[in-house]
Amino acid sequence: MATTESDSLDVEAIRADFPILEREFGDQQLVYLDNAATTQKPEQVIDAISDYYRETNANVHRGLHQLSQEASIAYETAHDRVAEFIGASGREEIVFTKNTTESMNLVAYAWGLNELGPGDEVVLTEMEHHASLVTWQQIAKRTGADVNYIRIDEDGRLDMDHAAELINENTEMVSVVHASNVLATINPVGELADLAHDNDAYIFVDGAQSVPNRPVDVEAIDADFFAFSGHKLCGPTGIGVLYGKQQILEEMQPYLYGGDMITKVTYEDSTWNELPWKFEAGTPAIAQGIALAEAVDYIDEIGMEKIQRHENELAQYALEQFEKFDDIEVFGPPAGEHRGGLVSFNVEGVHAHDLSEILNDYAVAIRAGDHCTQPLHDKLGVAATARASFYIYNTKSEIDTLVEALDDARQLFA
Ligand SMILES: Cc1ncc(COP(=O)(O)O)c(C=O)c1O
Repeated sequence: MATTESDSLDVEAIRADFPILEREFGDQQLVYLDNAATTQKPEQVIDAISDYYRETNANVHRGLHQLSQEASIAYETAHDRVAEFIGASGREEIVFTKNTTESMNLVAYAWGLNELGPGDEVVLTEMEHHASLVTWQQIAKRTGADVNYIRIDEDGRLDMDHAAELINENTEMVSVVHASNVLATINPVGELADLAHDNDAYIFVDGAQSVPNRPVDVEAIDADFFAFSGHKLCGPTGIGVLYGKQQILEEMQPYLYGGDMITKVTYEDSTWNELPWKFEAGTPAIAQGIALAEAVDYIDEIGMEKIQRHENELAQYALEQFEKFDDIEVFGPPAGEHRGGLVSFNVEGVHAHDLSEILNDYAVAIRAGDHCTQPLHDKLGVAATARASFYIYNTKSEIDTLVEALDDARQLFA
C-alpha cells in the first residue's frame, strides 16, 4: 500500500491491496460503488484475521497460558489504537460492540431506560438512520419521553434555528448523524454539542459515515457518545465501537450481563469490572477487534485528510456528470466542504431498484432502496433512491462507467 508524496492518493497502489477488485463478471471488471453499505477489505486486514487464527487464537482475559496472554494483549491494544484514532483519552472510553446499531442500543438501554421519563425529550434529526430513529423511538415509548426531530431544509441541511428551539431544558439526549448516509450532509455536530450541553443534555453522534472518510476528534466535537462500525472502514463485520466519556460510562449501568464484565459475584449480588470491560460481556469478537486496529492503521497511514479530499473530488465529479442530465434528480447539498463522498439520485421514470439491477449487468454495484431512512424518504417524497458511494480505491473512470451504464438504462426505459 502506498500514497504518493503529493496530496492525492496513489489509487493504483491502493487498489492492488484489495483482491476483490480484480473480480470480473462476464468480461466486465467490478465497479464497486456501494461503500456506504460496507467497504472492501485490503490484504493487510484479511491477513490480520487469518494470522490471528493461525497463530494466536485463544480466549481473552481468562487464561494464564501464552496464547491467551498474546490474544488478550492484542485485543486490548486494539482499544488503545482506536482511542488514539478518534481522539479519545484511552481504552476506558472505547467499548467494542457488534456495530453502530448495537452501540446505539447500548446507550439507549443502559442510559435511556434508566434516565428518561415522562416530560423528558430526545432530539433527533429528520435525516437519522433507523439505527438511531427506531431505537430512541422505542425507548421513548417505554419511558414516556418524547422524541422531536430537527427539520432539514430544501438542500438537506439541518435548520439550526429549529435545533436551537427544540433543544431546551427538557432535552436529555440529542442524537444526531454526523454524515448522512443519504443526503451526504455533514452536520455541525460541534455546534449541536454546545446546544445540548448548554441545556445539560448529552449528545450522541452517529459516526458510521464520517469516521471512514474524514478526520474525527471526539474531544474536539465534545461528543458524550460517538459510534461507528468497523466494516465501513476496511475492517471486518461483527465489530463496532462505542466511545463514551469516561465519567458517563462509569456512572452507567451495564447493558449485557455475564462473564468478563464482573469483578466479584456471589449468590446474592455482583460488582462490575473496570471500563471498558464492564460493557463487553462474554467472549468478544477477538479476531475482528484485532483486525479493526489493522484497518485503522491502514487508512491512517494513507491519511484521513487525503481520503477526505479524494472522496470529495469523486463526489464532485459525479455531481458534475449528473448535472448534464436533466432527468437525474440529486439529493442533498451542493458539492463542497459540508458534503461527504456519496451521491443519492433518481433517474426520472426509472425505479431505483430497476436501475440498480440494470447497472448490475454492467458489473456496477450501487445501492437502491430507502437506505434505512424511511421517514427521510417520505419527507423527500420518494419511495427509494439510488446511491453511489465512493472510497479510497474508486476512480473517476469508474464514475464514467456508471454514467455510461445509466445512459443505457435510461434508453431501455425510454
Ligand atoms: C448513518 C448510519 N448510521 C448507522 C448505520 C448502521 O450501521 P450498522 O449496520 O453497521 O450498525 C449506518 C449503516 O448504513 C449508517 O449509514
